[in-house]
Amino acid sequence: MQYEDPSFAATLVAWQKQHGRHDLPWQNTRDAYLVWLSEIMLQQTQVSAVLGYYARFLERFPTLASLAAAPVEDVMAQWAGLGYYTRARNLHKCAQRVVAEYGGAFPSDPALLADLPGIGRSTAAAIAAFSAGRRAAIMDGNVKRVFARVFGIDTYPGERKTEEAMWARAEALAPAEGIEAYTQGLMDMGATLCTRSSPSCQRCPMQPRCVAFATGRTAELPVRKPKKATPEKSAQMLLVVDRGQVLLEQRPATGIWGGLLSLPELAGHTMAADAPDDAAVAAAVQPFGAMESLERLLPLVHVFTHYKLHIHPLLVTLTSRAALAGEERYVWFDAAAIPNAALPAPIKKLLLDLLGERSQARMF
Ligand code: ADE
Repeated sequence: MQYEDPSFAATLVAWQKQHGRHDLPWQNTRDAYLVWLSEIMLQQTQVSAVLGYYARFLERFPTLASLAAAPVEDVMAQWAGLGYYTRARNLHKCAQRVVAEYGGAFPSDPALLADLPGIGRSTAAAIAAFSAGRRAAIMDGNVKRVFARVFGIDTYPGERKTEEAMWARAEALAPAEGIEAYTQGLMDMGATLCTRSSPSCQRCPMQPRCVAFATGRTAELPVRKPKKATPEKSAQMLLVVDRGQVLLEQRPATGIWGGLLSLPELAGHTMAADAPDDAAVAAAVQPFGAMESLERLLPLVHVFTHYKLHIHPLLVTLTSRAALAGEERYVWFDAAAIPNAALPAPIKKLLLDLLGERSQARMF
């Protein structure tokens, strides 16, 4: 079968026996209740954070039956501070189902385990391996990192195809003998050697076969989530100047630059290809006066968290100014007051640059 390689498991098991963790409180037992509880607590939570909770939880709920019989509020109280509280609700439900459906004894078949609340495919495999020695493959974030590096998998592990290929490898590599040490070894390697940043390759038993090590790519693998391309928008902004003043508009309270003064924008024209012609600009300016000249200034780019805005300033002078009848959101603003105005940073910069450049040319 593709991906099969007994030397992988043999190497890992030998390393685990010599260098792995052997004294965690949920090890050295086949009690499925103890194993299950630890695996649920260790989902998304580090060993160091789990230790105290695990001990206290077992003092309060020493058996599966005592947990199943307890009010859910008592379970939540024991979980308080550990986070991801759905785990605690599912834990309680799972205990009740194991009592009702299996007479209080967890099944050892990973498929049956995975059907219980809070137990996914990987957790089911870990419980089956540790509590029953069943050959079953785990695949969590740590294992994905180890696999991406050792096998040089250079596609994003969150992608369905990559994840499926990793599961296929995991299933093929899991040994029939020694699944406990093998599974623990994968967890131990991921947590102690093959860490996200600065992995300890010199102490790693997989170093001779590690593609990432051989090609100097431990920092690049696993591949991080691909960033979506930043959307780009355009805005045509009127920069109407007249007798030492510039026309500003108060923006709506919500949305970008909410409530700030800014340059009036031409409605529409948000796409790069949709630049207005002179007549369209004159028509947009018309409520404020008769357009005398129009100069298209160089666009500037402003980067927001979720998109890039290409600002196209349209510098306009007037032959005559119209009264701002009932247009309360528009103001003629003294150019001299711009340094202290509540303007969006890129707009203020645009205006200040223009002021510096053009004041001698008596534009304002
Ligand atoms: N993370 C998940 N399961 C674990 C286990 N059994 N030991 C250590 N870390 C783990």
